[in-house]
Amino acid sequence: MSELPDKLPRHVAIIMDGNGRWARARGLRRNEGHLAGAESARAVAECCAELGIPTLTLYAFSTENWNRPRSEVRFLMSNLRKFLKEHRDDFLKNGVRVAAIGDVEGLPAAVREEIRATQEATRDGEKLTLVVALNYGARREITHAVRQIAARVQRGELEPGDIDEATVREHLYTAGLPDPDLLIRTAGEMRLSNFLLYQLSYAEIYVTETLWPDFRREEFMEALQEFARRERRFGGLKPDAGTAARHNGRSARARSRGR
Ligand code: IPE
Ligand code: IPE
Ligand code: MG
Repeated sequence: MSELPDKLPRHVAIIMDGNGRWARARGLRRNEGHLAGAESARAVAECCAELGIPTLTLYAFSTENWNRPRSEVRFLMSNLRKFLKEHRDDFLKNGVRVAAIGDVEGLPAAVREEIRATQEATRDGEKLTLVVALNYGARREITHAVRQIAARVQRGELEPGDIDEATVREHLYTAGLPDPDLLIRTAGEMRLSNFLLYQLSYAEIYVTETLWPDFRREEFMEALQEFARRERRFGGLKPDAGTAARHNGRSARARSRGR
């Protein structure tokens, strides 16, 4: 394994893209790409557990992916069930807790049941929380949160003026999870595709041309190395900017004005 970077993200979110292109490049059917992609998901989850990255979120099926041919949607659903079933013992052994975010109610009953059983079996896992985003769409998530908050106001449990960022967070599917520090998108597309629009506000974004089925341990380590080199500011200044300004003889007031 390449050298371990000194600064690791606490939460990595991944838009696993490029399964179809991977298959086409090999003269295979798209479904073969989805099968190979499941192995990448396993490999990356294993890396996180080993490295001590406590949360990994994988975008597995979006609310827009229903627009694909019925046969592909069916394959994706069965691939997902297979993934959860096949790896359940490994999850248990490796301290992985599986959680799902998204409109789970809108999934086929068999998939819902597999998610329920996996969540139940792995609930005590403490090493890694593996969050699978399924029938997930950030716009639907935010709409759902707004509805729930409105219902609480209607019941008289909450005053509109008391709604703050914490209230909003509590009603998102990701309640209780930290925001992602690093967003990885494979296969080169520079877009979010309706993924975690609220939670990614300050994530570092890493886009690689590597297609998801080829994204394994080495590629993941490269992304982590790149993350370690990034300088996160959260709207402030570089950690040494204040000192530099002092050396330049600028007043504290000028610095606080941010110039
Ligand atoms: C990602 O690969 C898998 C899902 C979105 C479910 P794609 O199937 O989107 O692969 P491309 O983008 O067509 O190559
Ligand atoms: C994003 O990939 C969704 C998932 C990875 C589940 P898509 O392939 O669906 O995204 P677009 O259509 O290129 O934006
Ligand atoms: Mg795609």
